[in-house]
Amino acid sequence: MTDSTKIDGTLRGRVALITGASRGLGAALALELAQEGVRLVLASRAGSRAELERVAEQARALGAEPLSVTADVGNRADVERLAAEALARFGRVDLLVNNASTLGPVPLPLLLDTPVEGFREAIETNLFGPFLLTRALAGQMLARDAGLVINVSSDAAAVGYPHWGAYGVSKAALDQLTRVWAAELEGTGVGIASIDPGSMNTAMHRDAEPEENPEEWTDPAAVAPALVLLARADPRRVNGRRFEAQDRAALAELRELAAHKEASHA
Ligand SMILES: NC(=O)c1ccc[n+]([C@@H]2O[C@H](COP(=O)([O-])OP(=O)(O)OC[C@H]3O[C@@H](n4cnc5c(N)ncnc54)[C@H](OP(=O)(O)O)[C@@H]3O)[C@@H](O)[C@H]2O)c1
Repeated sequence: MTDSTKIDGTLRGRVALITGASRGLGAALALELAQEGVRLVLASRAGSRAELERVAEQARALGAEPLSVTADVGNRADVERLAAEALARFGRVDLLVNNASTLGPVPLPLLLDTPVEGFREAIETNLFGPFLLTRALAGQMLARDAGLVINVSSDAAAVGYPHWGAYGVSKAALDQLTRVWAAELEGTGVGIASIDPGSMNTAMHRDAEPEENPEEWTDPAAVAPALVLLARADPRRVNGRRFEAQDRAALAELRELAAHKEASHA
């Protein structure tokens, strides 16, 4: 059977799994990909089941065939069930977007005041989750020698902002996970890349900085197209790269990478 992901630079017909798809960037990305004809697996925890179903309904109205799954990415059994349900429904996952994330304790405390359980929750969701899900799905990508994993990072991964300790440490470790995995995938048709979406007007950011004016932050629907460009790129050309979604030069490069993939397969 012909592998559509190898001969077709567009996203139509591919299968994408997005964690944290019930709201914010994950929901916006789901709708962008639905418009591209991507088949979707959407996940979030039980508390946002109704919101997740609403996103799935909107995706369905755009012609997608979404599967929505309740799963906590920090829980190994949940992640294994999520991967199994995705593969049972679609037979493959071509694009994995590790987007689900938590700040850990809010209001954001100094490290000295950070509860151990809150620190652990940030690590389990933001680091352990992407590790578990990539581990569960990379094998079937390697078997087809095609696929892309996108890890959603943050500038808190690179800067030691006071009060952002648990979250920042988890995102810095996620960036390192991306780098090591990329080195191990080098030479294959499977890639892993990271993207920092920049400031967005989402529940997470409003919880983190309740005293700021959220209208000054970008709507996640305006950021999601940058992730779609990354998804269009040749995984081998973006393997190990880190992009900033709201940076003009990065966006220009992502457009070039996406166009190159389409042109090379025209
Ligand atoms: N907003 C910003 O300004 C900003 C800046 C830099 C980076 N980022 C990154 O961008 C990504 C999207 O963030 P956002 O602002 O869109 O956040 P958001 O609006 O708070 O959405 C987070 C999503 O993740 C889900 N989630 C949280 N914990 C989960 C878990 N353990 N298992 C499964 N799902 C879980 C949430 O649903 P449930 O809680 O119901 O499960 C929700 O769907 C994150 O990786 C974040 O770190 C955001």
